[in-house]
Amino acid sequence: MPLVNVIRGDRIDSAPINVRTPFIRIPMWVALTWWTLKALGRLVFVVVRFWYVTVPAVFFAWLYGRFGWAGPVGFVALVAAVAAGWAFGHRPSFLRFGWWPVLSCYRRMLYRRKWMAAMVTAKLAVSFDSHTVLPVLRRVRCGGGVDVVVVRMVTGQIPDDFAKVAERLAHTFGVRQVKAAPGPRPDVVLLHLFRGDPLAKLVRPLPVPAVPEFTALPVGKREDGDGYELPLFGTQVLVVGATGSGKGSVIWSVVRSLAAGVTSGLVQIWGLDPKGGMELGMGAPMFTRFARKDYAAMCELIEEAATVAKDRAGKLYGRTRQHTPTPDEPLIVLVIDELANLTAYLTDRQLKDRIKAALSILLSQGRAVGVHVVAAIQDPRKEVLPFRDLFPTRIGLRLAEAAQVDLVLGEGMRDRGALCDRIPQSLPGVGFVVIDGDPTPMRVRFSYLSDDEIRAMAQTYGRLRVIDGEILEGAA
Ligand SMILES: Nc1ncnc2c1ncn2[C@@H]1O[C@H](COP(=O)(O)OP(=O)(O)OP(=O)(O)O)[C@@H](O)[C@H]1O
Ligand SMILES: [Mg+2]
Repeated sequence: MPLVNVIRGDRIDSAPINVRTPFIRIPMWVALTWWTLKALGRLVFVVVRFWYVTVPAVFFAWLYGRFGWAGPVGFVALVAAVAAGWAFGHRPSFLRFGWWPVLSCYRRMLYRRKWMAAMVTAKLAVSFDSHTVLPVLRRVRCGGGVDVVVVRMVTGQIPDDFAKVAERLAHTFGVRQVKAAPGPRPDVVLLHLFRGDPLAKLVRPLPVPAVPEFTALPVGKREDGDGYELPLFGTQVLVVGATGSGKGSVIWSVVRSLAAGVTSGLVQIWGLDPKGGMELGMGAPMFTRFARKDYAAMCELIEEAATVAKDRAGKLYGRTRQHTPTPDEPLIVLVIDELANLTAYLTDRQLKDRIKAALSILLSQGRAVGVHVVAAIQDPRKEVLPFRDLFPTRIGLRLAEAAQVDLVLGEGMRDRGALCDRIPQSLPGVGFVVIDGDPTPMRVRFSYLSDDEIRAMAQTYGRLRVIDGEILEGAA
């Protein structure tokens, strides 16, 4: 078939099928017009798309054309003067309506530039059917020390997917920490990017509430700038932290928040200091009962508290679910430093078993009847503290290993941002807590009382002392 090989007069080598696109001849002016229109379209797109650059550029060019150099320079000076006046005159509104929105736009640009790389390397980009879908960066809201990035997830993703790669994202965006929280809609996740550290500075002792609010004891500061209030009613508190992590400051912050109650007799604090009084000794007048050397005395204290708890539970049976403290039936708070000394390291087996038995009764029955335990320990493992789960409220200060975090705060909490093992030694008193109703752990710093401040507090608020069974004079 020779004809197949001849196309528009050209001879073509033999092939199964030969195809050639037809020539369409168009005049030069049509082509030129088309190219010009296309270029113009692109220009308009760029001008509109990057309005935040083009609009000011045009404006400044116009100022320059109209007034010379004085135009743009004068305008910048005017804006700076107005902003400075506003900032000094009314700082909160300046931050809220002036500074933070501008900063948000700028930061959004920064985050967008890294967004694709961040999503791909964190494996949050989803590939299927030969194309890739990225989570969408919607909005950025800046605030004091934290940027909240609103992200629309790819269908099928959950906030925990972001929580798991939070550390990677923190490094990518160059921030201290990233936390992922569910957004207002099911397909939205809120990434909290923490920049500065509001907890870097020591937290001074907080004012003593005249009547302690047992559901919200002021003990420290939260990462988001609010105060951290510990709910004591209905719970038992365990403080876990490596040596030097600031367990003492948690104990003293709690004692301070209850101090006015000690004076009025509404609260009794019983102190147990197995380290020989090193930690609690300075403030001994704060404690109605105090044991420091004698393990048998400590055991008796715990047994006594357990008996009180059982008696109250028996009396309150069927009447109420939460005991209300009165001077006749005060709130009893057992403060135990280095609990492991009583539950694990004690060599006297019999005594250890008695302590364990009394403690488990106290922990399980005391919380509704106003007999509470605030205990500190270094090692959260079950071998050391068999009844860890009887402490509903747990505070994780600096911990030695990543694996301990979930033991203390609960399954998955390290993934959600509780990096207790990363707290530097230079930040004692910093820790993570789980706040009721918030799925992500909150970073907090407890107030620090120096030895002198503890003594002064004991002078002002302390009462009777019973040390190792021996009754001493009241301090005040
Ligand atoms: N909230 C805090 N703010 C600032 N500094 C603190 C705070 N808590 C503790 N520190 C500092 O850290 C040091 C160690 O604290 P602390 O003795 O409370 O630790 P600890 O956890 O009880 O350690 P250990 O297990 O050795 O008893 C303190 O001497 C103090 O200087
Ligand atoms: Mg200590």
